[in-house]
Amino acid sequence: MITIALPKGRLGEEAEEIMIKAGVIRKKIPQDSRKLIFDLSDTVRILLIRAQDVATYVEMGTADIGIVGKDVLVEHNSEVLELTDLKLGYCKMVVAAKKGTTKENLFSMDFLKVGTKYPSIAKKFFSNISIQSEIIKLYGSVELAAVTGMSDCIVDIVSTGATLKDNGLEVVEELFESTARLVCNRSSFYRELEAIEAMTSAIGKTVAGA
Ligand code: PRP
Repeated sequence: MITIALPKGRLGEEAEEIMIKAGVIRKKIPQDSRKLIFDLSDTVRILLIRAQDVATYVEMGTADIGIVGKDVLVEHNSEVLELTDLKLGYCKMVVAAKKGTTKENLFSMDFLKVGTKYPSIAKKFFSNISIQSEIIKLYGSVELAAVTGMSDCIVDIVSTGATLKDNGLEVVEELFESTARLVCNRSSFYRELEAIEAMTSAIGKTVAGA
């Protein structure tokens, strides 16, 4: 039995499509249920988990495999094996600030207030460029922190760029690109080597369109 941690929401649904095409699972999770565990066959169990918690379930070995954004893996410095890039949920981690703010101006400050859902990434980034930062941890609508002036800038993911644009903000610096990754618990990988390698190969071929 392989237990797969699937993030709730659109990313999970897209990953589910890939797993069906790859033959890893044979049927979709029922949409009308509030259940969080689904035994889809004798060999595959799905856990439906909040995206930020997927890596934790995989790290702990409660799930053997999971689908999780690179942004979340970097933030939590997760101790999991990355098996393959699912090329889903593409976004960039950026520093953004009010329109007209130049990188030279912002990064010449000694101290910055930073609104973010990614406190570890933000702290590390500013520390690396020798700027002292006060990290204001937020859970959503991060752009508002910079718009209202509660923070000097934000560190957040950008996908279409619409949220920044509609709120009069712009990208000051790009940190890294992120997509969803298929990850694996280290012990599970060696214990279920054959099954996990077959699964990774089938998913990899599906993603590549082969
Ligand atoms: C994310 C992110 C940005 C937005 C970027 O938030 O934190 O706010 O999406 O997307 P865009 O570049 O396509 O506009 P999410 O939609 O997850 O909502 P949240 O603010 O509640 O976290």
